[in-house]
Amino acid sequence: MFASMLRTQEEEILDQEGLSRRGRTILQDLDRWNRVSGWYDAHTRRIRRHWEALGRPSPLRVLDIGTGSGGLLAALADTDLPCELVGVDRSPAFAAMAAQRLGPRAVVLEADATELPFGDQTFHLATSTLMMHHLPHGVRHSLVREVARVARSAYFFDLEVTLYGVVGFACLAPLVGLGRDAVHDGMLSVRRGSTLSEMRALMKPLPVRVVRVFPSALCTMPG
Ligand SMILES: C[S@@+](CC[C@H](N)C(=O)[O-])C[C@H]1O[C@@H](n2cnc3c(N)ncnc32)[C@H](O)[C@@H]1O
Repeated sequence: MFASMLRTQEEEILDQEGLSRRGRTILQDLDRWNRVSGWYDAHTRRIRRHWEALGRPSPLRVLDIGTGSGGLLAALADTDLPCELVGVDRSPAFAAMAAQRLGPRAVVLEADATELPFGDQTFHLATSTLMMHHLPHGVRHSLVREVARVARSAYFFDLEVTLYGVVGFACLAPLVGLGRDAVHDGMLSVRRGSTLSEMRALMKPLPVRVVRVFPSALCTMPG
């Protein structure tokens, strides 16, 4: 109901800051939020469901798009899933940071999500968490088209544009020690998110269904 009032195309600080001290702090805060909120654990549990639906391939070739500091890849590397991990990020600085964090556990490259440097069906699963809202709405279908080209299925996780998402994040984030910039970007992120029906329309090329997950988020599960 409030989605159209909340919408914004304002850029996040993270999108302008590269790996300045400010940008690095936001990425570190986001990593902490992902751990404290249990999102990394939830992602790995849901990715296991995708692995099962894909017939438990071994290795499971995973491409993480918009990997940021590489936290999801690190969480996957810590599971018993037989993953071969590749990450991409459009920021060369973030890609280098993730590569350093992951070492031999993953390959991380600089690449844009809408023009992926991989052949058709190179991966079993593409993952993309909290990245889609960085793209303008009109470009999001290009991301899904590329994902459908390079991977058999996909785990997307992004924010649902809701009033309680904006207010809830603003109240909770300082309590877990997130800085002012991360709170600013988090609130903008919710406002740049999608509605359930938009996400369902976007995901049509993929063999997935879109579900609502607490709090104020949407993700894809095997269809
Ligand atoms: C909010 S961070 C999310 C990082 C991580 N996936 C997570 O869940 O914490 C968004 C990331 O997407 C990257 N990104 C934004 N647009 C992109 C694009 N067009 N192609 C590739 N990466 C992109 C940004 O550089 C940033 O690292």
